Amino acid sequence: MNRELRADASGEFHAASQAQPNIALVKYWGKRDAALNLPAVGSISITLDSLWTRTDVRFVPGQKGDRVSLNGRSDEAESRRITACLDLLRQRAAVDWGADVASRNNFPTAAGLASSASGFAALVHAGARALGLQLSDAEQSVLARRCSGSAARSIFGGYVEWAHGRLADGTDSVAQPLLAAESWPLRVAVAITSKAAKQVGSSEGMRRTAQTSPYQSAWVDTQEADLTTARNAILARDFEALALISEYSCLKMHALAMAAQPGLLYWNGATMECMHRVRALRQQGLPVFFTVDAGPQLKAVCEPSAIEEVKAALRDVPGVLDVLDTGLGAGARAISPDAVEA
Ligand code: DP6
Repeated sequence: MNRELRADASGEFHAASQAQPNIALVKYWGKRDAALNLPAVGSISITLDSLWTRTDVRFVPGQKGDRVSLNGRSDEAESRRITACLDLLRQRAAVDWGADVASRNNFPTAAGLASSASGFAALVHAGARALGLQLSDAEQSVLARRCSGSAARSIFGGYVEWAHGRLADGTDSVAQPLLAAESWPLRVAVAITSKAAKQVGSSEGMRRTAQTSPYQSAWVDTQEADLTTARNAILARDFEALALISEYSCLKMHALAMAAQPGLLYWNGATMECMHRVRALRQQGLPVFFTVDAGPQLKAVCEPSAIEEVKAALRDVPGVLDVLDTGLGAGARAISPDAVEA
């Protein structure tokens, strides 16, 4: 056993953390190494503030296996992913203890709202602290990436870039902050158009796309230019430039996935209607653009002055069940264990 390991004041290996989902503006889609979860492309995202995952992790010396509760329920597939993620932490700490994990989201899980991003960022952050591992943010980002790619970005707040990386062991495929949330406090309205879990998860969707979509190489070849454009737009706080590159990357990712066999259709009719509505608002001069991930929810990113009008317009679209509203927020951080159940 690692001699550095210390229980907390109450004699337990226990910690709780919160992380928020992030939304990619230049999308991650495709892996160049599935075992290490290395991306085929770099990506850029924004971390949100009022949606969250809160996770409590307690390692129990002598316990065999993990006990996992997600929103008060157990889910076999998710538990397997959580155990695989905890294994990386156990390896680092040189222990074989089982853990009790309780995690809660305040938004719909697995429906294209980046629950795996906030979920695995919170799990790595809490798990590392529970085991007394002193990991830098970059080290946590690498571990979170191995559990779910987009989770690498939720370790950080504000505008974040996750690098493709060059090293074969993946230690340089890590996220880093580009700009603080307060430096350009854009807002996001999330139009919920379905509360059902998506039929094809991101990992399977990416695998199918890489194997069968004729556009895969064009996607990879054009990503560097998109990253440069988006990075420059963010650093210059150029809303119009960010709007154009973000919608372009979103539609390009979906076109790529739609051209897989069988084609991946993550949108429903309301998603499409929302896109038209956002475009119409922008044509009228409102600073707003859309992005959509591997699910039917539409995220409308706007300047703060436009948020009420954007929300009202999305609420008005037939098939929209609810509209959430969030700003940009911070990265993963420690919380009191009481906050997980609160
Ligand atoms: C469409 O991070 O969920 O949201 O690495 O297989 O867990 P895995 O995939 P995941 O994929 C997210 C895909 C996306 C785009 C993005 O967030 O960049």
